[in-house]
Amino acid sequence: MKVLVVGQGGREHALCWKLKQSPLVSQIFCAPGNAGTAMEGTNVDIKATDTVRLAKFAQTEKIGLAIIGPEAALVAGVTDALEAVGVPVFGPSKAASELEGSKVFMKELMRQHAIPSADFTVFENFEAAMAYVEDREQVRLVVKADGLCAGKGVVVCDNKDQALEAIRRIMRLREFGDAGKRVIIEERLDGQEASILAFVDGNTIIPLETAQDHKAARDGDRGPNTGGMGAYSPAPLITRELLDQIVAQILIPTVHAMKRSKRPFRGVLYAGLMITTQGPKVLEFNARFGDPEAQPILMRLKSDLAAVLLAAATGKLESVDDLEWDPRPAVCVVMAAEGYPGEYPKGHEIRGLEEAAKLPDVKVFHAGTETRAGKTVTNGGRVLGVTALGDSIANAKYKAYQGVKCIRWEGSWCRKDISDKAREEAVKLQQTGQKPQDPNAEPAPPDVSLKERIDRLDDRK
Ligand code: AMP
Ligand code: GLY
Repeated sequence: MKVLVVGQGGREHALCWKLKQSPLVSQIFCAPGNAGTAMEGTNVDIKATDTVRLAKFAQTEKIGLAIIGPEAALVAGVTDALEAVGVPVFGPSKAASELEGSKVFMKELMRQHAIPSADFTVFENFEAAMAYVEDREQVRLVVKADGLCAGKGVVVCDNKDQALEAIRRIMRLREFGDAGKRVIIEERLDGQEASILAFVDGNTIIPLETAQDHKAARDGDRGPNTGGMGAYSPAPLITRELLDQIVAQILIPTVHAMKRSKRPFRGVLYAGLMITTQGPKVLEFNARFGDPEAQPILMRLKSDLAAVLLAAATGKLESVDDLEWDPRPAVCVVMAAEGYPGEYPKGHEIRGLEEAAKLPDVKVFHAGTETRAGKTVTNGGRVLGVTALGDSIANAKYKAYQGVKCIRWEGSWCRKDISDKAREEAVKLQQTGQKPQDPNAEPAPPDVSLKERIDRLDDRK
């Protein structure tokens, strides 16, 4: 089977790398890809959002499975375009991608179906939004632009002035363009953040091993938000009991709600959560693998990724065997270009990749890279995701940074504390008498009998 991966980041390199290990896969194409995906397969010079050319290419090449990485491609309707020419696609339709593409859609769906989330109000009018904040006593608020803003359209506010300023920037100055036509003002939640990702085929849910990213640019979670400066898997915060609760209270009702609203969700459902004293609450949904969360998760996956994604794309996830995981934790450290997440230069030659490739249990996933005149050069803000497996989180971290040490280019930098949060979480859980997820224990098998439960919910209505 020929597969087409759409996108060009670290997530897409990890997908290509993992798909290449499948006996089902004869050839891998990546559109547009990067220097890393070119090592796993063939890059195709088509933009990830170019629905017309992607459909034509997939049809001509008789692609047996397409996997869509980035949210912009999903929201542009790449899934619909490829399905229209008969290609099985792993990734939600344009309508189902609204779950990530419109925060207003997502929040209203959750309210309607009693899925736990922060209380909120939607505003289409600038003055009304300003007046709402002015009149409130409680000012620990979060202001969010409705549409896609590459993770930057959310402002967590400590006081009234910050909230007013955020509304001004989003609605008046239109810093995020049309994404700021509407804003959501919501209650600010306290707790620890965690992400849960699951494969979904519209009916059946298979939760993946847990992961957590580091969104802030600087050590100690300081500095501006980025797409993610690193990630680790598993996240000790998510105990088996908590995962069951998340599946029952959040994932099942969401997949069911999407089905009921005639937008069946197929792909990766990614729930960004705040674990509050009242239980897990949804901060956001993404309609795809996280980047860089995909890198450590896929490094730990032992099952045949192509077989699972094809089953999900064709509504047959129920028949898939339990996923097999490497019990060892994985850590991914993102190496970025000078200036990121602001402006950054491109075209710097990257050295030391061969040296890093020799390290055992280390894989360097490319993100913002390209090949120019036989050399690998920088071509984005997040340039590489150096990922390692280790016997413990600390050991995986050590190995990942060994990889980082081999690599250099002008202005390269990374956070030095990736995964430290995991160890802090584990210690805290132990102090409160809870048992953190043991990274060295075999994970419990995922619940593949969930289809039945979703169907039963349907019957009740
Ligand atoms: P989002 O893109 O909606 O996940 O928001 C990005 C980040 O903003 C999250 O990872 C949280 O750190 C923070 N955030 C979003 N919503 C809330 C909320 N209601 N309360 C506290 N923090 C939030
Ligand atoms: N790492 C967060 C995201 O992919 O949205």
